[in-house]
Amino acid sequence: MRDRLRVAVIGTGFWGRNHARVYKELAETELLAICDIDPERARSVAKQFGAKPYTNAARMLRNKDIEAVSVCTWSTSLAKEAIRAAEAGKHVLVEKPMAEDMKQAEKLVETARRKRVHLTVGFLMRFIPGLQHIKKAVETKEIGELVCATAKRVSQWPERIGDIGVVKDTAIHDIDVVLYLFGEDPIAVYAKTGTMRHKKFEDYAQIMLTFERGKSAFIESNWLTPYKTRVLTATGSEAIMTLDYITQELTVEDAEETVRPRYPMQEPLKLELQHFANCITKKERPLITGLQGLRALRIAEAALKSSATGKIVKLK
Ligand SMILES: NC(=O)c1ccc[n+]([C@@H]2O[C@H](COP(=O)([O-])OP(=O)(O)OC[C@H]3O[C@@H](n4cnc5c(N)ncnc54)[C@H](O)[C@@H]3O)[C@@H](O)[C@H]2O)c1
Repeated sequence: MRDRLRVAVIGTGFWGRNHARVYKELAETELLAICDIDPERARSVAKQFGAKPYTNAARMLRNKDIEAVSVCTWSTSLAKEAIRAAEAGKHVLVEKPMAEDMKQAEKLVETARRKRVHLTVGFLMRFIPGLQHIKKAVETKEIGELVCATAKRVSQWPERIGDIGVVKDTAIHDIDVVLYLFGEDPIAVYAKTGTMRHKKFEDYAQIMLTFERGKSAFIESNWLTPYKTRVLTATGSEAIMTLDYITQELTVEDAEETVRPRYPMQEPLKLELQHFANCITKKERPLITGLQGLRALRIAEAALKSSATGKIVKLK
């Protein structure tokens, strides 16, 4: 068998630290280095996980032993760091939302293509077993025809970084899930967003997506609700499937019965990073491509445009 994939993490705040921990734990990967522009953080995370600390990503990327990186910096610097890593010939897992805007995301996809490196986006929800169950039920028609999906992702969120709003930060998870389930892009987007507590960007959003043949999806996201809900309901002509992302509980209801298929609770980040490594070392088929990241971002931008203009944004 091929050696373990030798990896590094760029940006080791709340989420990047988790990437570093999981890479350290996995049998498929070897964590060589981490980089954070905050020297104290770089030192402490590197020490905790036995990796080499850097505060300058360009310098770290010169290390030829590093084959792949996770980019977990602030959302506004994700694309720049990911492009630099791809240019250096490293395989890249870039956190969502992948880039601040479509233009940067396109440049990243193009760079990865030109440099022939693997590019994927951190859409964590895809690795929750219940979501895979729903996707399969759509493909096999166990759910019948998928008619609509609703997703709710709400909780209170302090203004920590404040570099993007709730649409690109939070709703983008559900946008990706909905595009994945329907297996096609929407033909129109209508959204209302607003700013209630956070200063710079929208902190609530209601987004309606319409697909061909009358299918639709509704996404509600905010940083205001005092309790945390993350739930998806997929309604088909034969069954309704509801997934609670927090408990990972799946409920399947049809005309006769309600069943709860049980999957062992899994850490989705572990599955995500394992899959990232296997895509490179064992040529596993990627679950999420750079292009899919770009498509989700396109819908997020259409939602923001719709809200700003008060009009439906037609996409086809
Ligand atoms: N997929 C998920 O479920 C999920 C969950 C949480 C966060 N995220 C994403 O992860 C990213 C980081 O979020 P967070 O909550 O950890 O933020 P954070 O502020 O806690 O951490 C960001 C870290 O990146 C460092 N940094 C910023 N720019 C850098 C650069 N150019 N080079 C090196 N280091 C740099 C900062 O010093 C900080 O330590 C965001 O893009 C966010 O959207 C994804």
